[in-house]
Amino acid sequence: MTSEWFTASAPGKFVILGEHAVVYGKPAIVLAIDLRIAVSIRRSGRNLINGDHVDFRRQPHLRYLTRDVNHALEFMTSSDIPVGSGLGSSAALSAALGLALSHQRGAPLGEKELVEEAYNAELFAQGIGSPMDASACVHGGGISVNLPNATGEHLWTVTRGDRTWDVHDIEAPDMTFVIGSTGIKAPTGPLVAKVRRYRDRSQFAVDITDDIEQVTIQGGQALARNDVEELGRMMTEDHKLLSILGVSCRELNKMVNAALPYSYGAKLTGAGGGGCMVALTDEPDKVCKAIRSRGGTPYIVKTGVPGAMFHPDPE
Ligand code: PMV
Repeated sequence: MTSEWFTASAPGKFVILGEHAVVYGKPAIVLAIDLRIAVSIRRSGRNLINGDHVDFRRQPHLRYLTRDVNHALEFMTSSDIPVGSGLGSSAALSAALGLALSHQRGAPLGEKELVEEAYNAELFAQGIGSPMDASACVHGGGISVNLPNATGEHLWTVTRGDRTWDVHDIEAPDMTFVIGSTGIKAPTGPLVAKVRRYRDRSQFAVDITDDIEQVTIQGGQALARNDVEELGRMMTEDHKLLSILGVSCRELNKMVNAALPYSYGAKLTGAGGGGCMVALTDEPDKVCKAIRSRGGTPYIVKTGVPGAMFHPDPE
């Protein structure tokens, strides 16, 4: 039996400022990038992913998103986003798959509903976290979360328990960012849990997340007036604060240090513990070389890209 394929794609993202603190309702600024994942699904006789049997215990995002599907599915994925690298691969997968499934059901989800769906999949898979990644991968372009005096269009508000995240559109700035991947996979859940334990035990860790809030607000103001020097300073400051929180690692620090002589600023991006760093620079080739010299893989990323989208079958 052959059935119709339903295909959707979504971009990865990087965090300019504010990761980890955003879990506690602090502000963050995120840009979607031109690394994407595409997911195709079709009704099938048995569950298959890229030709292999699907082990739903090891695929919690898939398990959550297909919870109401009462037939087997074949999944095909193709992705340029390195997995477990702080570039939002799991949120992008959830956004693309959630959108494809909703088209298959004949009831396509709107952006806000898709954010809720992708965020719930993230929570199901990793226990805690913010709707920041889901929002960036669904909307594309740039977003701010809980940024005071945000001027862009208000997109949505997400609430869980006593926490609320207000998400606004921001225009993706015309700046050059280079991402450097350590190649070390570091799942988000345990790193977020580590910061939560630290905050539960120590006022010092709470103070550090408050400092990240200040740096993010100051960086947001710099971004709004295209002040690359100040924005870069805030990024580097944020990296120091994230290091104190315990989510950096030797490889990330080496790559940040190597990029800094040619950058306005540099920091880890995403959950940390491995994964990626990002540098704001006018000299991308030199930064790429510096990243390679420390064993990393550089990507000069484009921003201002579309969010999650459905790809109608050409036939
Ligand atoms: O590593 P990523 O791309 O999943 O980003 C995680 C961002 C955190 O702030 C650390 C967690 C979150 O859910 O906001």
